[in-house]
Amino acid sequence: MSLFITFEGVEGSGKTTQIRRLKRYLSRKGIPCKMTREPGGSAIGEKIRRILLDPGHGEMTPLSETLLYEAARAQHVKEVIKPSLRKRVVILCDRFNDATIAYQGYGRGVDLRLAERLNRLSSQGIKPDVTFLLDCPSTLGLRRASYRNRMLKKEREGRFEKEKIQFHRRVRKGYLAIAKEEPHRVKVIDTREGEEKVFEKIRRIVDELLIAKGIGHRDIEAPNPKHQ
Ligand code: TMP
Repeated sequence: MSLFITFEGVEGSGKTTQIRRLKRYLSRKGIPCKMTREPGGSAIGEKIRRILLDPGHGEMTPLSETLLYEAARAQHVKEVIKPSLRKRVVILCDRFNDATIAYQGYGRGVDLRLAERLNRLSSQGIKPDVTFLLDCPSTLGLRRASYRNRMLKKEREGRFEKEKIQFHRRVRKGYLAIAKEEPHRVKVIDTREGEEKVFEKIRRIVDELLIAKGIGHRDIEAPNPKHQ
């Protein structure tokens, strides 16, 4: 049985760091992982990503933007997510359906029902087992993202990082609304607590899920037959 985990959050929420840490943790336990991302994850998806994030594409309409994210997702689900779900593997995906609701729905004002319908279509109805929503105030996230860009010597900010603070506040509100609607699936983690504490919370939830799904059971003590 597989486990499908997604990571979501506003810009600069520290998703990438946490995904990498979780991948290392699972690999040490001998649990196979598939790390992937949206938009992207497939050759076509990565090309669509370049179009979507190009800061020169300011004239892109909210509908074109939504359809491009959905096109990248349809390809990603067909090529990567579905085949991985058939294997005994943990899928770690950097953003998925919720991002379209938060960014295009709440952020850009695209009709939420339309975004939900398109999501169902492109993801073939697949939902993550758990979603970690790494949350922080939008101003802090943007400051972190801009620091990261400077460190990585990125010349320009991405199309979304250039958006006004109000846009990022709407996105955050959207994410928190999704979490309120689906508290069982979406776990909100306050990233102001620092990288270590955030990882500890993620690790604990993932460990519980691994046990529930019977993945990596060789790491869990076998019951003593004498006590049965
Ligand atoms: P990343 O910076 O986390 O890799 O994500 C790329 C950008 O794409 C980020 O600004 C969020 C945005 N995005 C959407 O607007 N809608 C979506 O459906 C997805 C998957 C990402």
